[in-house]
Amino acid sequence: MNATLKILHELRTIHGGFSHQPIREKDLDTILRAAVRAANASARQSYTIVVPGDEQRRDLNWVGAESLLFCVDFTRLIASAHAVGQSFDAASFLPFLTGVIDTTLAVQNAVIAAKSLGIDSLITNGVYRAGNVAKIRTILKLPHQHCFPLLLVCLGYPIADPGRRKGRLEELGIVHRGIYQRLTAGEVTKIVEQYDDPKRNMGLIENWTSLGFDHYLTWFFFQMEQGRRNSRSSQRACAGDTFVRVFPRSRNIGAVRQVGNR
Ligand SMILES: Cc1cc2nc3c(=O)[nH]c(=O)nc-3n(C[C@H](O)[C@H](O)[C@H](O)COP(=O)(O)O)c2cc1C
Repeated sequence: MNATLKILHELRTIHGGFSHQPIREKDLDTILRAAVRAANASARQSYTIVVPGDEQRRDLNWVGAESLLFCVDFTRLIASAHAVGQSFDAASFLPFLTGVIDTTLAVQNAVIAAKSLGIDSLITNGVYRAGNVAKIRTILKLPHQHCFPLLLVCLGYPIADPGRRKGRLEELGIVHRGIYQRLTAGEVTKIVEQYDDPKRNMGLIENWTSLGFDHYLTWFFFQMEQGRRNSRSSQRACAGDTFVRVFPRSRNIGAVRQVGNR
């Protein structure tokens, strides 16, 4: 395996167990420079990366030695368009979708670059979950329109080695060679079994049998539904409001409902 593949296969998430070891300024710069090298649509780089100071990180309770907040952001594009007597229409779903792709690619570049320097990471989308967006906007002074906090990357060194890698579905149901192939009932059962197999280490929890579930996925979809019922109204309010603020015309295209129901 070459060095690049080794890094890709060694990527792992540290779920909060970061030590106090600081990240060198030089390494942080290297990570940021690698992030912005990611492919992006139409040379727009429809994102900003906010690197908060210690005070803001404390106020936001963010784990790790450094945090990078990746926002889908059209503020710079709009200002650039105005500077040359033009306009940029950011208020609809397609630019947002493209911005999400630009932003996510930059995130993955950052995480890979960090790993190549021996720095681990946690990616979280918790930044736009109910209750969080308003606080982040206030503390980091994000623009109220056209700027959507999409992903937070927490960087640092782990306190302890987390041990086994998390597993993935690899071939069956993931890679469709030739043409798209719908799974047979037997193949779906194999996927259920892959999640059940402790050796594969794929699930979010390991004790689903002791909780009374016959399969991991029974637990997973059951708790997803419970969570959705409990938080539906608050999530809709939060994500919907944020989305409308960022994309004022989105009320007309049904996107608010889509985002609010996640
Ligand atoms: C969009 C996204 C959101 C995530 N949100 C969280 C999160 O809120 N909390 C967390 O502990 N991990 C989060 N993760 C990390 C995943 O849990 C992790 O990637 C997955 O369990 C696989 O583990 P691995 O990265 O160690 O292989 C997130 C990952 C992605 C891509």
